[in-house]
Amino acid sequence: MIKKIVTDVLVIGGGAAGLMCALTSGYRGRQVMLVDHANRMGKKILMSGGGKCNFTNYEINFHNYLSENPHFCKSALKRYTSTDFIELVERHSIPFHEKKHGQLFCDNKSKDILDMLFTECDYAGVIRKTHVEIYGIDTCNTGYLVNCSLGIIQCESLVIASGGLSIPTMGATGFGYKIAEQIGHQIIKTRAGLVPFIFTGKEKEVFSQLSGLSLPVKLSTNNQSFSENLLFTHRGLSGPAVLQISSYWQLGDKLTVNWLASSAENDFLKHIQQNNGKSTLKNSLQETLPNRFVENYLSQSFSISKIPFQKKLAEISRKNWDVISEKLINDHLLPAGTEGYRTAEVTLGGVSTKAISSQTMESELSKGLYFIGEVVDVTGHLGGYNFQWAWSSGYAAGSVA
Ligand code: FDA
Repeated sequence: MIKKIVTDVLVIGGGAAGLMCALTSGYRGRQVMLVDHANRMGKKILMSGGGKCNFTNYEINFHNYLSENPHFCKSALKRYTSTDFIELVERHSIPFHEKKHGQLFCDNKSKDILDMLFTECDYAGVIRKTHVEIYGIDTCNTGYLVNCSLGIIQCESLVIASGGLSIPTMGATGFGYKIAEQIGHQIIKTRAGLVPFIFTGKEKEVFSQLSGLSLPVKLSTNNQSFSENLLFTHRGLSGPAVLQISSYWQLGDKLTVNWLASSAENDFLKHIQQNNGKSTLKNSLQETLPNRFVENYLSQSFSISKIPFQKKLAEISRKNWDVISEKLINDHLLPAGTEGYRTAEVTLGGVSTKAISSQTMESELSKGLYFIGEVVDVTGHLGGYNFQWAWSSGYAAGSVA
């Protein structure tokens, strides 16, 4: 005999958004059940921010989010702000610090944030269940019937908080998109975001020799730029500047790199031209850029363009200076692709915001159905913006579901 469970609210997906939604709704006196197919909830919280969870940012603005409708996120972000989340963190006496650019990290470990959310869920009376497989969803006159490994769950409100496709080994599935499509929601084409680039051929060879080296750059593509660190890897490029720009990059797009981003580039070039006439190009560059980078990457590039790397600066022709300056300030790279969902921090695209209320996250096509967090076509920059979207959208739905 199939077991029947009745609850006011069923939240599918126990990540950042699902936990916030469940506890918010529970505090309103609603009977809430939170289910996840994984063996534990909040795995991405645990692995986030290098184990210290960059849980929000002091400067949250809609400009830090990508979406077909860039204004959609405004309402939820305004109603539950980073200050609200910081207050919650402080109430639980979790020590934290600002790293840079307003990014807030735990002093100790990400688990502090997850434990805080579990504690809040417990206070709010939320029933949490892991290892729950969902087989199908139907509507009924009182809401929804969810057929799952626990039996049939009947609920008035159904919240889809199943996240995106990034890191399948952490439990990511396309479940939320399937449900949305079934109801008639449009899905904005998904792709990996905040993800390292891979290169092939000569570039891969050189980058892999530089693996582990990090330097400040300005990276641009498609009218977007980020000034941050770039990290060479065995497969290509990573680091904050690369992850940020990857969300704006499409296959076939070139990246423009300014390797002198940290050194007021034009001043640097003028300075070495005017004052260091006796020094060689190589030595002068090594004063500003890492030795390994100059020796491997620049020396190879300059030898291809026949730039006399060992020549004294005073002897370099005007024409060659133009080539040197172009290489240093306006270099072009063509990634072969990204590492994809395997290592991406987020999924771009997802359930279109067109038929979702920006106030409540409720579907306009099916009453009592909500989509929150990463499954929705709202993706943040690196720096705590994605968790803030999870908290804010979870709170918006939890306040009414
Ligand atoms: P999330 O993916 O967290 O949760 C979805 C849940 O649904 C999972 O528990 C999953 O098991 C469950 N689920 C999926 N399919 C299901 C199904 N069919 N049935 C039942 N359950 C199902 N962001 C940030 O702001 N600061 C940071 O420091 C980081 N760091 C970071 C590091 C790494 C390595 C990654 C991969 C990501 C980050 N992020 C981040 C991004 C952040 O983790 C992400 O945006 C949020 O976790 C999204 O929260 P959601 O709750 O929407 O999905």
